[in-house]
Amino acid sequence: MPAASVSATKTLPGVPPGPKGRFLLGSLVELSRDWLGFYARCAREHGDLVYFHILHVPLYLVVHPRDIEFILVTNAGNFTKSEDYRALARVLGRGLLTSEGEFWRRQRGLIQPAFRRENILAYARVMTGAAGRMLDSWKDNGVRNLHEDMMRVTLEIVGQCLYGAEVSGAAERVGKAMEVVTEKFIVNASQALLFRFEIPDLFAPRERRAIAELNEIIGGIIRDKRSSNQPRDDLLDTLLRARDAEGKPMSDAQLRDEMMTLFLAGHETTAIALSWACYLLAQNPQIEAKLVEELRSVLGNRAPTPQDLPRLSYIEMVVKEAMRLYPPAWGVGRRAIADCEIGGYRVPAGSNVFILQWITQRDPRFFPDPERFDPERWREDPVRSGKIPRFAYLPFGGGPRVCVGASFAMMEAILLLAMIQQRYHLELVPDHPVEVFASVTLRPKHGIRVTVKHRELAE
Ligand code: HEM
Repeated sequence: MPAASVSATKTLPGVPPGPKGRFLLGSLVELSRDWLGFYARCAREHGDLVYFHILHVPLYLVVHPRDIEFILVTNAGNFTKSEDYRALARVLGRGLLTSEGEFWRRQRGLIQPAFRRENILAYARVMTGAAGRMLDSWKDNGVRNLHEDMMRVTLEIVGQCLYGAEVSGAAERVGKAMEVVTEKFIVNASQALLFRFEIPDLFAPRERRAIAELNEIIGGIIRDKRSSNQPRDDLLDTLLRARDAEGKPMSDAQLRDEMMTLFLAGHETTAIALSWACYLLAQNPQIEAKLVEELRSVLGNRAPTPQDLPRLSYIEMVVKEAMRLYPPAWGVGRRAIADCEIGGYRVPAGSNVFILQWITQRDPRFFPDPERFDPERWREDPVRSGKIPRFAYLPFGGGPRVCVGASFAMMEAILLLAMIQQRYHLELVPDHPVEVFASVTLRPKHGIRVTVKHRELAE
């Protein structure tokens, strides 16, 4: 029994405030019109814990960092992932993102060491190599769709890091098939939340074919690697060699699920962080100038290495602030196993609760003038200095299910942003609409179009 579950005798108010919604439909119409706007209104009008329902399904929005910490850390044992993750599991199987319990714990134990800071430093060369090739292909004064470029380069990086250079062609095919299966994630995720059964025709033939292709490609790579005796330094090789406490390796099926999970979780999020960071810099010339000054003094024209990272502190602040305003993963969901108390209310077993970085990270109580892009917020660690509560900022989630690739992503984002800004000044193409689209991730809906202007940084 989880420690903080509600005792039978304790009487608590049952239903927190929230939008009334419409008869039978609840808040379905308002939510589907504008996800982010709906949640922002809920938080503004109803406070730290908001109750609403969609059709017959009750849902809770959890805004306050104190309650977020309770769900993700203090009482994490009382929560599984929310029902919408079932849509992801159809593609990712029982990978880290979607598995639970003992199975998840064992897998996490096998995979986490590969992502420790000291073990990922070797991937910096893959990252700067791919970024260099992309930047070489840009033409002075050319117009680029930045988000497309970021997607391509992060895909190449994760493909090489996971499978090794020799299968980068396969990584591209995997990327294409992934695109097909992620297209309808948000629709599938919403349906998984609302209905316990599968709606048969939703899983369209195109998606089924894409999943079959993914299985074939990744299965083939795993088989080839198993039969080859040559050790490589890619992640698949590391995972093939990993053993649990009883000395057992992962099965091929587990490896497939984990490789697919890492591939999916490991590229779009970082691409999005970079796209929004460049977008914000293009609108804030003074911040860009400060960043360029740091690049000039630390790097000049040479490519960055992991040894430079401690001195690229302003770039790190820019990345953190960009992920505050535009969290690539804009929400995480959980489902209560037993009744529990959140924010003074009784939340019954089976309830789905949503924690939205998009909402909490823009809360003026923790981030004054929250819409303003201000990397200075991060000059001194505001959590350590007690300025903000620990879970006011959580781009990588938190607690036992915190992002396993956080260090990898931060290193990649800092190295790539440094290289882009070192070589080009980006100007937004006027009249191109830049719109936030809340899918499973927070994408720029029509991409971000920029004119790239070459710059030289003399040492
Ligand atoms: C800026 C980039 C990234 C962001 C914002 C991000 C965000 C997140 C968040 C919020 C979670 C927690 C989900 C939850 O609690 O339900 C998560 C989990 C995860 N992420 Fe990331 N991620 C990023 C990059 C990466 C990379 C590069 C990888 C791997 C190469 C990765 C692999 C994973 C995996 C496997 C999990 C599941 C961990 C578990 O449950 O044990 N992520 N990520």
